Amino acid sequence: MSRKVCLTGIKPSGIPHIGNYFGAIKPAIELAKNYDARYFIADYHAVNTIKDAALLKELTRKLAATWMACGLDPDTMMFYRQSDVPETFELTTILMAFTSKGLMNRAHAYKASVQENTLAGNDPDAGINMGLFTYPVLMAADILLFNTNIVPVGKDQKQHVEIAADVAQSLNHIYGKDLLTVPEPVISETTQVIVGLDGRKMSKSYDNVIPLFLPSKKLRKIVMKIVTNSQEIEEPKNPETSHIFSLYKLFATEEEQASAHERYLTGGMGWGHAKQELFEIMDAHFTPMREKYDMLMEDPSHIDAILKEGAEKARTIASETVKRLRNAIGID
Ligand code: TRP
Repeated sequence: MSRKVCLTGIKPSGIPHIGNYFGAIKPAIELAKNYDARYFIADYHAVNTIKDAALLKELTRKLAATWMACGLDPDTMMFYRQSDVPETFELTTILMAFTSKGLMNRAHAYKASVQENTLAGNDPDAGINMGLFTYPVLMAADILLFNTNIVPVGKDQKQHVEIAADVAQSLNHIYGKDLLTVPEPVISETTQVIVGLDGRKMSKSYDNVIPLFLPSKKLRKIVMKIVTNSQEIEEPKNPETSHIFSLYKLFATEEEQASAHERYLTGGMGWGHAKQELFEIMDAHFTPMREKYDMLMEDPSHIDAILKEGAEKARTIASETVKRLRNAIGID
């Protein structure tokens, strides 16, 4: 029996940090082991916000190298750039005819931008381009092109996957056959919030992130910036309220966690020491990945070649879908 298809898109919008690693990258790579996985870099989605060619190219390569360094194996799955699969754009045009404008008006991301404008006293659509408005249609094409069963995404993208499912169902209904597989979002609820340097959720918008694959020295420097209270070395400390301990747990074995927990409560361990321990365990965890990342980034043309190869595999499936649809709608 063939395996179910799992697909997700990764938008090249910044340098990944350890919140992305534990929240998205690691779980998606785990999931890929049990599915026919298709993961791609959503570069056309990024063009809506990034208007700098060199930057987009750089972010795309860095993202590809990051995922491969974290364990994505392009030989056992499809890994490609959205822009290398032109069938995506033909399917987008087809889907436009089956997507109601009202559905786009109700999309959270678009609504949030409108609300922001309204609150600021600006025109409701200020700074909103059509790419942003029709974002869910392109995303639906990404998904529906590949007979996708499940789509691992963050909570913020759940509605977009539901829109893709709606559009697929409406098209299937109109032509009276199962032309498109109806996808389902999978939200990794279990992943706990990864705290940033200041104790809030790690997020680029809070400027509190620890980027992945920093050289050891820089990593140490940034770990030392984690905010603590002013308790003295000898004072007992509460591990449950410490951002340092919260991050430490992500990397430590059960025994290591128990031992650190104990030492926090006993007192005699200063924050500086706790940070040093955190740095060491993080550095040990990421060093092999960082080495792989650095090696990949040394030869960008190799990264490009891997993505191109992935796109070729992807297009075999994508072109079948487009052919099936063209045929069904009377354009063949
Ligand atoms: N919109 C997603 C994000 O911002 C990226 C994305 C594009 C995607 N196409 C997709 C995710 C298809 C899942 C499936 O994170």
